[in-house]
Amino acid sequence: MTTPSPSLPTQDYILGVHDAEIARLGLQHRAWRARALGLWRKAGLRAGARVLDFGCGPGYASLDLAEIVGASGAVLAVDRSSAFLAQLTAQAQARAYGQIMVREADLLAPDLDLTEGFGQADFAWARWIFAFTPDLDRALDAFTKTLAPGGMAAITEYITYNTWGFLPAEPVIADFCASVMQSWRARGGEPDVAGRVIAGLIARGFDVQLIEPALEIITQSDPLWDWPESFIRSNVPRLVELGDMSETAAQNVLAAWEAASARPQTRMITPLTAQILAKKPR
Ligand SMILES: C[S@@+](CC[C@H](N)C(=O)[O-])C[C@H]1O[C@@H](n2cnc3c(N)ncnc32)[C@H](O)[C@@H]1O
Repeated sequence: MTTPSPSLPTQDYILGVHDAEIARLGLQHRAWRARALGLWRKAGLRAGARVLDFGCGPGYASLDLAEIVGASGAVLAVDRSSAFLAQLTAQAQARAYGQIMVREADLLAPDLDLTEGFGQADFAWARWIFAFTPDLDRALDAFTKTLAPGGMAAITEYITYNTWGFLPAEPVIADFCASVMQSWRARGGEPDVAGRVIAGLIARGFDVQLIEPALEIITQSDPLWDWPESFIRSNVPRLVELGDMSETAAQNVLAAWEAASARPQTRMITPLTAQILAKKPR
């Protein structure tokens, strides 16, 4: 491994904001959409609700949320990546979703007030955002402050990222997983953030009503396989670009991935993820 390069444009988002990452996040959303819809239903989300999508990325979930809340509701989609927000704006316009409000903001900016021009939300959604925020308390403050008393927070984050790997174990891929975690941590992120998020919600008086674990063991014939596959394909070159992985190590990871994928007996374990529902006190 080489020394991380602080000069590279990691500020927007460590995994990049290029077209390949927009496409990967779309694939990831489709892989996780059924779970998100199930969680939102359990939360009681329905037409007319005012929703925050905190760290919305290219807004794949924002579009689904807008469809559910309809023209009588509203979705405030916030991210700091202008490239991601441009993608969401184009999609919202194509669908004539006037209920989506896009806001470019750093979620860690001091005194950030997301209620300005929107008011308080009935429902706040955040998925794979707290893992990338170096100041979890500040991010949780901004997230929870936007919710109205009695409003519901719905969150998806990793509990234990390094459950991800092959069965039988493939050490090169286990090392790759460790490099990903190290790369996030080197820039202030924390992959295994779900436990700290839950503790932070409880400390803020929230009633944590659901912690649902998600972990699957799959074969290559399962469409879910494409989710980690697309991550490997886009993140190996990204780690090289960031100076977090050598070219040789990158080639070894891709070769090990292809060899393990080609074995018919191979199974893959996905990263252990939590879906969380918590109600803000009245
Ligand atoms: C893994 S993506 C998840 C996107 C979306 N929530 C989803 O589930 O598809 C993480 C997102 O967090 C955003 N992000 C990270 N740190 C941020 C910050 N401090 N302020 C605003 N957005 C941030 C990135 O720009 C990126 O869009």
